[in-house]
Amino acid sequence: MSGLKLHHVVFFVSLALLASSIPSRAEPFEKWTVHIVNGLGGGRTLFAHCKSKDNDIGLRNLTAGTEFNWSFKNNFGGTTLFYCYLRTDHKQYASFDVFWIEKHDDWLGLRCHNKDCIWTAKNDGVYIRNLSTKQDEFIHPWGTHW
Ligand SMILES: *[C@@H]1O[C@H](CO)[C@@H](O)[C@H](O)[C@H]1NC(C)=O
Ligand SMILES: *[C@@H]1O[C@H](CO)[C@@H](O)[C@H](O)[C@H]1NC(C)=O
Ligand SMILES: *[C@@H]1O[C@H](CO)[C@@H](O)[C@H](O)[C@H]1NC(C)=O
Repeated sequence: MSGLKLHHVVFFVSLALLASSIPSRAEPFEKWTVHIVNGLGGGRTLFAHCKSKDNDIGLRNLTAGTEFNWSFKNNFGGTTLFYCYLRTDHKQYASFDVFWIEKHDDWLGLRCHNKDCIWTAKNDGVYIRNLSTKQDEFIHPWGTHW
């Protein structure tokens, strides 16, 4: 303890304060859950294929009003990246990242809050939920294939 100088203590306390002031940025080693929700109206089916470099979540047909989710720990090195291809039964599709490690901003952290990222497919496109307000924010419009 005698070797522990005041400036060391100040440094570690500052680090701790800094760490606790960062909301919930997607950092390595944390457990996160990604949800894909079929919020299309009218009994429509949503097709989803989500994967990362090492992990294929599989092909899914989601009936109206249902969701699926998967959990994972961010890998060492902070390179975890999941992306999804979604397609509606009206020939619309969207292909986008659903989870990534945030090194410089807090886009997911501000929305996914309790480490749940909730992506919902609706008639006009794909939304992400802000878990503070419980409101869905429009992010990706559908593209058309054919
Ligand atoms: C999903 O539905 C499509 C269209 O009906 C079908 O071609 C496909 O085989 C289904 N995929 C799975 C994984 O159930
Ligand atoms: C997440 O998926 C599990 C099955 O893997 C399911 O039991 C659970 O209800 C899902 N969570 C939500 C919020 O739907
Ligand atoms: C989410 O909602 C909270 C609470 O209203 C708000 O402070 C925050 O800015 C919202 N996040 C985004 C990314 O809009």
